[in-house]
Amino acid sequence: MLTRSVAAIVALCSLTHAQSSTERIIPTLSPQVAAAPSLTPSVYDPTAPNAQQCPGYKASNVAESSGGFTADLTIAGPHCQAFGNDIDALTLEVQYQTKQRLNVKIYPKYLAATNYTRYILSPSLVLAPAWDGQTTANSSDLRLTWTNDPTFQFKITRSSSGEEIFSTYGHVIVFEDQFIELVTNMVDDYNVYGLAENIHDWRLGNNFTQTFYAVDAGNTVDGNVYGTYPWYQETRYGNGSANTTAHGVYARNAHGQEWLLRDSTITYRTIGGSFDLYFLSGENGDGSSSALTTISQFISGCVGNPAMQMYWTFGFNQCRWGYQNISVMQSIVDGYRDANIPLEGVWNDIDIYSLYRDFTNDPNTFPVDEMRAFVAELHANGQHYVPIVDSNTYAPNPDNASDAYAPFERAAALGTFIRDPTTGDFYYGDNWPGFSSWADWLVESSQAWWTSELMAWHDDTPFDGIWIDLSEPSSFCAGSCGNGRLNENPVHPPFLLPNDPLQANYQYPEGFNISNATEAASVSAASASQASILSTTTLLPVPTTTTQGRTNPTPGVRNLNFPPYVLNSVLAGHSLVKGSVAPNATHNDPSNTTEYELHNLFGYSISNATYNALLSVFPGKRPFTIGRSTFAGSGRTTAHWGGDNTSTWGSMFLSISQALTFMMSGLPMFGADTCGFSGNTDNDLCSRWMELSAFFPFYRNHNVKATISQEAFRWSSVAEASRRAISIRYSLLTYMYTLFYYAHTEGATVMRALAWEFPEDATLSGAYAQFMLGPSLLITPVLIPNVDTVQGVFPGIGEGTNWYDWYTLQPVTAQPHENVTLSAPLEHINVHIRGGSILPLQTPGNTTAATRSNPYSLVIALDESGEASGSLYLDDGESLIPNATKLVQFAYASGHLTTTVSGSYQAPPPLANITVAGAPCLPKNMSLTVAGQQRPAHNLGLEYNAGVLHVSGIHEHTRSGAWEGEMEMMFHY
Ligand SMILES: *[C@@H]1O[C@H](CO)[C@@H](O)[C@H](O)[C@H]1NC(C)=O
Ligand SMILES: *[C@@H]1O[C@H](CO)[C@@H](O)[C@H](O)[C@H]1NC(C)=O
Ligand SMILES: *[C@@H]1O[C@H](CO)[C@@H](O)[C@H](O)[C@H]1NC(C)=O
Repeated sequence: MLTRSVAAIVALCSLTHAQSSTERIIPTLSPQVAAAPSLTPSVYDPTAPNAQQCPGYKASNVAESSGGFTADLTIAGPHCQAFGNDIDALTLEVQYQTKQRLNVKIYPKYLAATNYTRYILSPSLVLAPAWDGQTTANSSDLRLTWTNDPTFQFKITRSSSGEEIFSTYGHVIVFEDQFIELVTNMVDDYNVYGLAENIHDWRLGNNFTQTFYAVDAGNTVDGNVYGTYPWYQETRYGNGSANTTAHGVYARNAHGQEWLLRDSTITYRTIGGSFDLYFLSGENGDGSSSALTTISQFISGCVGNPAMQMYWTFGFNQCRWGYQNISVMQSIVDGYRDANIPLEGVWNDIDIYSLYRDFTNDPNTFPVDEMRAFVAELHANGQHYVPIVDSNTYAPNPDNASDAYAPFERAAALGTFIRDPTTGDFYYGDNWPGFSSWADWLVESSQAWWTSELMAWHDDTPFDGIWIDLSEPSSFCAGSCGNGRLNENPVHPPFLLPNDPLQANYQYPEGFNISNATEAASVSAASASQASILSTTTLLPVPTTTTQGRTNPTPGVRNLNFPPYVLNSVLAGHSLVKGSVAPNATHNDPSNTTEYELHNLFGYSISNATYNALLSVFPGKRPFTIGRSTFAGSGRTTAHWGGDNTSTWGSMFLSISQALTFMMSGLPMFGADTCGFSGNTDNDLCSRWMELSAFFPFYRNHNVKATISQEAFRWSSVAEASRRAISIRYSLLTYMYTLFYYAHTEGATVMRALAWEFPEDATLSGAYAQFMLGPSLLITPVLIPNVDTVQGVFPGIGEGTNWYDWYTLQPVTAQPHENVTLSAPLEHINVHIRGGSILPLQTPGNTTAATRSNPYSLVIALDESGEASGSLYLDDGESLIPNATKLVQFAYASGHLTTTVSGSYQAPPPLANITVAGAPCLPKNMSLTVAGQQRPAHNLGLEYNAGVLHVSGIHEHTRSGAWEGEMEMMFHY
């Protein structure tokens, strides 16, 4: 749900008082900064110091340690005070942690020094990969070499080939209390991916700055957004004589930071903490290396495998800000049912709450009794319900007894809120409900409080999962602005809401003026008229920035709110004080850690706490929680949606690269707000987006308040596109679920870049207009308006790979690297099956539960040598630790299909039929063996047409469940 971009925040005071739908007054929340200096972020500031002129360090006292060595690093000249106080003495720790992973740590030697603070990220907050107890320099894939000439520099090479994958040679290490920097040399035109979260091309390019500072400002292209994943994967293509290589680098540090991708270097800077670098060889054990192996080394080895999700969470969800009461919710459920479009879950945004306060129900619009009945009926129909929970906790007006808010009182009694360092009282920022506080997740009792609030609310509103929003955490004012002002609560947000006067939204997707010329003309006129009224109205800008010029380092002092290094954060003035809980806000742990250190971890922490709470709400079940701000490792507990995108074709396109970076970051339960969140969508965009998102793991249509409705049943073509795409998705649920099983157990990816699956093809290095779902399906979506064709490539053609159309099972004929034009009518999305795949399918039902109990079928898509393989994972779809599972492996060669079954989970549906694509002709006859018993073949149907062989009637032989016995099927030619 949106908070208005700060630039757009205007208050029309007189108008608001007269006409706003609420009585609440828009407050002035921070002193207005008259003519605030326009602050240049350090990365673009020509007057900013060049930290590479700092003296660097000399290494000495090298000593062997477990799996590596340590050394002292001593500053090699006078302090440069570039963006902080230089730290004279450092410790270097090099550890060959596993064969594939090398760790380099650099941190202050005297951790107890009192005249500067330092922060080492605790392994209890963020996993710290450790030594396996056996690897040494001699057994590692990687080598570290270093020199003191002229100052300490190091490089990482491959033991096998000497390939240099990281090198600070030619650059100094900078280590100050508010700034650390190192620079690595890069090959020309390098291919680097990752550094999620960004809204950017998938291949990051050689002229890009990634800023990490969690912010609530919409999906700013190329700017900092919600999540922090400080890791990249690099691919180097071979050139005939050499193979493609891949490796990765993870920098475990949660501070505000920047990665400067430039022509021949990458510069890594943070505003605190330590260097904690993990180099991943990407090697497969035979000297080769690959992106997919690197990615699983990052996920499994560094941050932990993602959570297994409940089966139902792969269904289609509908949400909106603006579902103002239960009957509107019911009409949405009915609308989907009447249009025969499967709907798995309905969601509420902040409309459900009384005065925007978490864990409440508006007594007029979402009364508890009706809410219970509404959700009970959803459950009876196999459907689900997920509400929002905002990250702030409303601080009630102390002068007004009727304003009491029990969740706040209970947390306050435990002292579990973040504090304002200037008063020692709780920190009171501002958010939807008014002046509010934020839980301090470093305090142990915060968890118990959060758990009991969620459990109590579940009694009133029996949700199936929890959506955590505003977890940057977002605050609408500068600093602890509610201090001493709680008696003004509840204050209105300091901006107009989407349905306030003069706030009509006239934004439509690109191409709307062509497809809907008449409507576009009237929209344009209305928009001009609103703009003209606005231009003659006196606007009182709500102060939005608290800016200050770049500060100079003061010896012995850290400036938390205005650090000397100015991050290029997208908020006006690049302020860290506005828009979120301020950096100097203080936690209650023994060392009074500040938000300066923990800012990027708030969303990670609240999502972890929500996961833990849901373990109590649903004992033994897999928690489903979806969060906006996340950090490396969040995938272990939470899902993520792509944030406040827009109803534009560009936003839809960029959702694919955003998804791919999350797949490689260990958070595969990802999806974007389908049809677009901000602005109005249209028939064309919404049809294409419903089709595209059907192949993302998380699938939700969501919309802002006060724009046109965009449920899939609102237009006949969107409805038809959705029915078709959802029916493909639901038939593939077992395939998607099996991909999640491999993600959960091996750190595998779910959606995949073409480049990952076809690593030798350099032409795919930047491709993301097409993507794969697992190893077997190629998706070619339409990403531009008003067309009925789409172009796509078919990788591997000419080199042993073949492809089949999903719908016809006919092989694709194309030349290597040919950009093939495919027919793509509005209701059709191109899906192709890679030869060599065996896909287990189920007849799609109206819910995931209905689908789960429908018969199975197999599609066997033969490769050029007539072979194929695949697998299927099964369990009860919800237990945290299932008491039974089953893994079925399929193999097909020389007309012979075999299954290998392990595990005891029983799936009742039978196997109805098998289809072979790429079959040479009709076999003379066939034989079938199930559980070691030869079955009579006479009641099996066998048909052949144009390369497609179809066997029906198998359900007679698999009545006790498709996978209860191992099966062999042989075609005799
Ligand atoms: C690099 O990016 C900056 C900032 O976006 C831009 O101003 C500049 O033109 C780009 N340089 C090149 C060579 O593309
Ligand atoms: C490329 O990889 C293949 C298969 O791993 C290997 O046989 C071959 O020797 C490699 N080529 C080079 C130049 O490393
Ligand atoms: C503490 O600060 C003083 C003065 O700024 C400096 O000379 C000294 O080296 C610092 N001590 C440490 C341990 O950094």
